[in-house]
Amino acid sequence: MSERPDPAVRVVLDPDRASSSLVADVRRGLGSAPRTLPPKWLYDDHGSVLFDQITRLPEYYPTEAERSLLSEHAADIASITGAPTVVELGSGTSDKTRTLLDAFDAGGSLRRFVPVDVSEATLREAAVMLSQRYPELSVEPLAGDFTLHLGHLPTGDRKLVAFLGGTIGNFYVEERAAFLGALADSLEPGDWLLLGTDVVKEADRLVAAYHDSAGVTEQFILNSLTVLNRELGADFDLEAFSYVPFWDPAMERIDMRLRAESPQLVTLPGADLVVELAAGEEIRVEISTKFRPEKLRRELAEGGFAVEHLWTDGDFALTLARREG
Ligand code: AVJ
Repeated sequence: MSERPDPAVRVVLDPDRASSSLVADVRRGLGSAPRTLPPKWLYDDHGSVLFDQITRLPEYYPTEAERSLLSEHAADIASITGAPTVVELGSGTSDKTRTLLDAFDAGGSLRRFVPVDVSEATLREAAVMLSQRYPELSVEPLAGDFTLHLGHLPTGDRKLVAFLGGTIGNFYVEERAAFLGALADSLEPGDWLLLGTDVVKEADRLVAAYHDSAGVTEQFILNSLTVLNRELGADFDLEAFSYVPFWDPAMERIDMRLRAESPQLVTLPGADLVVELAAGEEIRVEISTKFRPEKLRRELAEGGFAVEHLWTDGDFALTLARREG
């Protein structure tokens, strides 16, 4: 059964990343107003487990909506693109990817799959599973950060880059533009992007998806403070913060914040930083932007991508766009 050697993970992550870029991110984000933390630090081992639980919450509709769209359109995506190389950014457990890979496998064009993720352990596990499931496929995992390492994507044959889950919604406007520009630069004209995005809808359903009754999302967002306590020797008192998510109708995004319920003096020795929070002061930990099709088309066009197909069930959207040449 497992005659194949396990796929080797190519690591382009800086081994000091946790210390160097976390420090820079924290100094920049916590040291200025409004206070923010970059969401990528939510995904340590515990955070990844919590996120996985989020995807199975009854209120959190995006995962299942995207999964159905994928299974409905995977065969089309495979035959339209016929790409021999599929890259997945932020692949995690590559759970939904199997739907896509099955369709490509049936189509017979796929030769190589490159999952890209910051979590080396998750990546390794997923790669072993995939290489056993698809014996003909060359699985070439890349441990990297898709905001920094797009230059390491394979070149040569026609590619489809999948960026699923609505993760592009966690970027701020200017980060989205930078990301799409960098992605376009790393692709050849004619290469494909398959993008999953959440859609603007009634505030109640949106808020419920990010304020679940089991409190898992709250734990997930609070885990950012645990990461800082561990990585930077900080002394955040998790009990002193409450989770305040809200729908921002002007920006069309869910804004996930932690509010200090009493004055907090927080020391972060690893970042050489002391932060004084007033009672009621908030730290924005994550945003989750929702997209109307027009906004998506416009931003993709500005990044150098032409939308060729947009499939939606009204709740979530899968967009297949082509890098223009
Ligand atoms: C990582 C984009 C899939 O924004 O919906 C879920 C992250 N944060 N609940 C999202 C998240 C809180 C999630 N994605």
